[in-house]
Amino acid sequence: MAKALIFDSGVGGFSIFQHIRQAVPGLDSCYLMDNQLFPYGIQPDNVLIERIVALCLQACREHDIQIVVIACNTASTLALPSLREVLTIPVIGVVPALKTAASLSRSKDIALLATPATIHRAYIDNLIQDHGQDCHVTRIGSSELVKLAEQHWFTGHIERSALENILSPFLAHSTIDQMVLGCTHFPLLSKHIAELYPEINLVDSGEAIARRLCFILQQQGYDLAQLKQRKAHHQLLCSAAISNKQDFLRACQHIAPYQSFNII
Ligand code: DGL
Repeated sequence: MAKALIFDSGVGGFSIFQHIRQAVPGLDSCYLMDNQLFPYGIQPDNVLIERIVALCLQACREHDIQIVVIACNTASTLALPSLREVLTIPVIGVVPALKTAASLSRSKDIALLATPATIHRAYIDNLIQDHGQDCHVTRIGSSELVKLAEQHWFTGHIERSALENILSPFLAHSTIDQMVLGCTHFPLLSKHIAELYPEINLVDSGEAIARRLCFILQQQGYDLAQLKQRKAHHQLLCSAAISNKQDFLRACQHIAPYQSFNII
């Protein structure tokens, strides 16, 4: 039976995984988070590439994985070519949905909300060149927001003023009508961002990734109808111990009934 590896630096990948679970509830999964090096958005490129490749390779070898989802924009916009060089199974990357936002925008004024690393990548320059040439794109890079999302996951609380302090300098009094959530942590805050800026449409990649995954599974000969019905097995892997493990596991149960939790 098919098993997917879902990879992120922290809990952001769950925002992608929840769409995958909805689309194929019977797909086995292994969620790997590199919490030891969190947040990725402030790490040097060479450190990240080496790390992401090593961890994914190890997880694929040890956990009999058939498909990999890099549920992290910071990792995908950097390490996909290196990963595809070493892995012989399909690797799906999550990248900012700039094309969708540009096509939906009426004001042609859009924002890309991502990590400080992602907003400066050549990958983003190319995306804008190819799909957003008729738009003005404001790049907002924030690791503080990533940390807020992580905190929200563990505690269920959000400091609205902190959220506003990060976003308002860019969004208040602007004509921005679409905002790309170019970091998988940010859909975890969608509800709160939408409450603060109801006039801005938030665009993320979750549904598109789930569709892509289904397409690849079918191409590989898996029976999707069967994959929707069976009872799946879900594992959690971390690169470092978690101090508030109980809160973490409680939050994770909303995503999937996790049966095991180990350090890689
Ligand atoms: N969730 C990640 C992303 O999509 C990385 C956040 C971080 O660790 O900085 O970019």
